[in-house]
Amino acid sequence: MPNREKSQAVFDRAMNVLSKGVSSNFRYWGPDSTPVVKRGKGAKVWDADDNEYIDYRLGWGPIILGHADDRVNEAVAKAVENGTTFAATTELEVEVAEILVQMIPGMEMLRFTNTGTEATMHALRVARGVTGREKFIKLEGQYHGAHDYVLFSTASSPLDKMGERSSPVPAQIGSGIPAKIKEYLHLLPFNDFEAAEETVKNHHEEIAAMMIEPCLGNISGLEPVEGYLAHLRKLCDDHGIVLIFDEVKTGFRLANGGAREAYGVIPDISTYAKSLGNGYPVAAFGGKKEIMDRIGGGEIAHAGTFGANGSSMAAAKAVLEILESSPVLDDMSKRGEILKSGMDKVLTDAGIPHQVTGHPNMQGFLITETPASEVRDLANHDDNFYNAIMAHLYENGVWAEMDAREPWFICEAHTNELISETLNKFEDAVKAAKN
Ligand SMILES: Cc1ncc(COP(=O)(O)O)c(C=O)c1O
Repeated sequence: MPNREKSQAVFDRAMNVLSKGVSSNFRYWGPDSTPVVKRGKGAKVWDADDNEYIDYRLGWGPIILGHADDRVNEAVAKAVENGTTFAATTELEVEVAEILVQMIPGMEMLRFTNTGTEATMHALRVARGVTGREKFIKLEGQYHGAHDYVLFSTASSPLDKMGERSSPVPAQIGSGIPAKIKEYLHLLPFNDFEAAEETVKNHHEEIAAMMIEPCLGNISGLEPVEGYLAHLRKLCDDHGIVLIFDEVKTGFRLANGGAREAYGVIPDISTYAKSLGNGYPVAAFGGKKEIMDRIGGGEIAHAGTFGANGSSMAAAKAVLEILESSPVLDDMSKRGEILKSGMDKVLTDAGIPHQVTGHPNMQGFLITETPASEVRDLANHDDNFYNAIMAHLYENGVWAEMDAREPWFICEAHTNELISETLNKFEDAVKAAKN
């Protein structure tokens, strides 16, 4: 464990005034080990004790360019001089929406929110509003935020609470959710063609939406097998179901047009957040005009005081213009591939059974003898060995999430030098874990 004298002093104060000392459950590691971060710049972060880390958590994905990116910060600083929140449309908001419509294949119309949770919550409501149906399909192991409808069988649900694969049981996250909410769900294993077909055929009359992370941003970045997303697209088309891609992690990360572009399947609605603002809170949901046009005018409700506020719009505009004007994501994926194949080689040379996973810009590795393609396959994962590698890396200045389910995120500021430093430290960490 790195020196944490100052971090601990801050965290002790945090425990007095913030529940468990954090502002999101996932940030809590325990009373004596929860990190306290002081600042970030580029691909690095420093904790309150000035320990320096190459950062692969990147705030769980939003940092696509680098922490405290000067180009984004300058745009935000300029915009906030004019005020940020007016409860009215602004030209800046229109400009950002115009860029999005032009950048994302099949995107015709959208609305802004501030978090991914709000985006998925509204997308689900829109699907229900346009279909007049109430239930929806959720994929096991997928996380769509913290609203009640989606807090079942997520990435952090214990596998032994999820029932049989052929007859899944909704595993609820925590208490406080009305018991009846789970009745609105049909759960499916990811990458299973037949299970999707059977559920849709048997229940389509009550199913408003199929909500899916097109690549598992919360399960080591596992990708869809060939033809799977197209199969879901067809099932939804054939049965009048709204296909929602939750692109909160994949948007502006896999490609400028997100997973739609990367995998060549266009859903009816997508949700975005994270990389859109490089760390500023901005999110959106949108898709086909005929669907999105049903919002408002006394029909489907959507609201938010801070939606499209000036600071988030300025951040989004700066990010989008950077992505548009240079091949940031393509270049990143080349460096991401070096990291991915480098880790693969280290693990292979060390004789460790493993699987490298995900898109190079949002990747991972699993310590397993059996290849994984969905969350239930993690039953075969060696958590202890993975944790030993990650703990060693953390102690030596490389910080990726301790949990194999959370991918390694790459940003523009991860240079070849940082990747090669990471790989050297990775080799040491694997050796240490083995011993
Ligand atoms: C795929 C996905 N959807 C939605 C969310 C929720 O986003 P937020 O935390 O901004 O509410 C997350 C958060 O990690 C996510 O990974």
